[in-house]
Amino acid sequence: MKKIIAINGSPRRNCNTATLLECALNGAKDAGAETELIHLYGLNFKGCISCFYCKRKDKEHGKCAMKDDLSPVLEKIKTADALILGSPVYFMNMTSGAIAFMERLLFSNYLYSDEIPTVFPKKLPNALIYTMNMTEEHVKQFGIKERFAFHEGAFERFLQYKPEILYACNTYQFSDYSKYESSIFNEAEKAAYREEFFPKQKEEAYNIGKKLVS
Ligand SMILES: Cc1cc2nc3c(=O)[nH]c(=O)nc-3n(C[C@H](O)[C@H](O)[C@H](O)COP(=O)(O)O)c2cc1C
Repeated sequence: MKKIIAINGSPRRNCNTATLLECALNGAKDAGAETELIHLYGLNFKGCISCFYCKRKDKEHGKCAMKDDLSPVLEKIKTADALILGSPVYFMNMTSGAIAFMERLLFSNYLYSDEIPTVFPKKLPNALIYTMNMTEEHVKQFGIKERFAFHEGAFERFLQYKPEILYACNTYQFSDYSKYESSIFNEAEKAAYREEFFPKQKEEAYNIGKKLVS
């Protein structure tokens, strides 16, 4: 049975990002895969500390030497058949947790060598799911896709598979907007957008999950 792992790069376990990851895993499950959702913010770990163990000629390549809660996750990913990373956009980037995860996973499988672009043991179908307050217009205006193309290029290069991508814009951030200072948002418009588009985004996530394991 194929195994797919989803990594939740949001500190919130039950909100937009986690919901879309669960939909993707449901798609994978319906395609016959075993699934696992890992919440990054439940783990105690750091980003790459630049020790360069993974680049040493006398050491095992593709192995991150740091020992923390992320270590077994990185090993597990090597045995998986597909991977999905979901992240909210924070300050026009992925969350610090998602970036730290990316550093640990990708840099440890990278050699400074033209001949060997990756030491990751196989092609790993993968996907990136982003959630954000921004609208599609903001995404264009601020060049977000161009910015994220660098991360996506790294996933493609090191995991040898061009990631499937989902942008979930204009997310509903609070369950009750009246409780928070949030006057830049029009709650009614947000609610209407969510009602119309969140089901579509969930369906897209489901299809991505299905595709990754098919
Ligand atoms: C610290 C922080 C920074 C954020 N920065 C941005 C941002 O730069 N652009 C954006 O569109 N949304 C931003 N957001 C909103 C989140 O990306 C958005 O609400 C996302 O859907 C939250 O995902 P979650 O519901 O899974 O936690 C930010 C939220 C937080 C908490």
